[in-house]
Amino acid sequence: MKILAIETSCDDTALSLVEAEGGLEEPRFKVLAHLVSSQTKIHEEWGGVVPMLAKREHGKNLVPLLLKLLKETNLSGAEPYAGSNKEEIEKILEREPELKENFFQYVINLRAPEIDAIVVTYGPGLEPALWVGLNFARALSLLWHKPLIPVNHMEGHIYASLAATDQIIEFPALALLVSGGHTELVLVKNWLEYQILGQTRDDAVGEAFDKVARILGLPYPGGPEISRLAKTGEKKKEFTLPRPMIHSDNYDFSFSGLKTAVLYMVKKIPELTEEIKASIAREFEDSVVEVLTTKTHRALDEFSPATVIIGGGVSANNALRTSLEKLLSAYPDKKLLLPDRQLSTDNATMIAIAGYLHYLSSPQITPEPLRALGNLSL
Ligand code: KG4
Ligand code: ZN
Repeated sequence: MKILAIETSCDDTALSLVEAEGGLEEPRFKVLAHLVSSQTKIHEEWGGVVPMLAKREHGKNLVPLLLKLLKETNLSGAEPYAGSNKEEIEKILEREPELKENFFQYVINLRAPEIDAIVVTYGPGLEPALWVGLNFARALSLLWHKPLIPVNHMEGHIYASLAATDQIIEFPALALLVSGGHTELVLVKNWLEYQILGQTRDDAVGEAFDKVARILGLPYPGGPEISRLAKTGEKKKEFTLPRPMIHSDNYDFSFSGLKTAVLYMVKKIPELTEEIKASIAREFEDSVVEVLTTKTHRALDEFSPATVIIGGGVSANNALRTSLEKLLSAYPDKKLLLPDRQLSTDNATMIAIAGYLHYLSSPQITPEPLRALGNLSL
């Protein structure tokens, strides 16, 4: 079946068209279109994502992205629009003025494309941002008479690796989810069956990367910047940072103290040269990677998963990928699933994949009333 997926939980507006086949024994995916419109430039000057700005940008971006996707995939419509539910659609889009205008100018008269379902992220994330995608999905579902499948953004991160044709997940699986809003170790017992083993008690890893980048005077988002600097950084004794909770007897994390330690360290330095910045970036990255790898190692030994998965924006980090690869090389019977880098950060392909798994598990269910849930958990 062909799935149109929509993702607007944070500062990326993303649409994908994915062809999905096979049952739960062997689901297979082919990505027909993968579009991401990043708002980094807009949020950069504020040093982080501003929810109301994100909402406005999603409202602007969604229709142009949809038109691009339809053009790219040559998905011309077969059935003409019946035109009976305009009023309902107007009501749904009431709170998104720019989206509504675009929708009624460009989308309303399109013939319904040959897709089988619409999948959308309904949480967790920034609620104003989530609502835009959700309302857009509801309007399209109504206009084109297609089923709507809501999915959890973090499930998207768990299954993102499946976009590559040769990847399969054997259960139980252990997922290390590291993004701008989350840091979780999750035991995935079967499709869509989760046990959260531990999570961060304060800042998420990605958030810590972003805050430390700011302290070092680097632009937003900080993860890729720190990672780039860290490569050239030399280890120096005077720039040693803690490894928070590395020996704690649980799977929880804490990264806020680490960020504060960087802040105090930087305050004491009279001149923050490029060389010093690089050393601090290296030590910070080392600390994060060591903590994440150590806890993953412990969970590996305790739960003996068949597959280890990493997902979320920070899973694009080279040092983390290398460290986990090294860890897994000592367990030749276990498979490590690393998502393609463009599937590590937010995108809609992963949302389509999670949506298909939901469709296979329970094709009938569309929870009502459907609403954006900023704190939705797995
Ligand atoms: O999953 P994601 O795109 O959005 C959320 O759901 O939060 O993750 C974004 C986070 C940001 O904090 C960003 O700094 C971080 O992922 N990130 C990285 C790298 N690329 C993105 N962190 C470390 N190294 C990277 N290469
Ligand atoms: Zn994410």
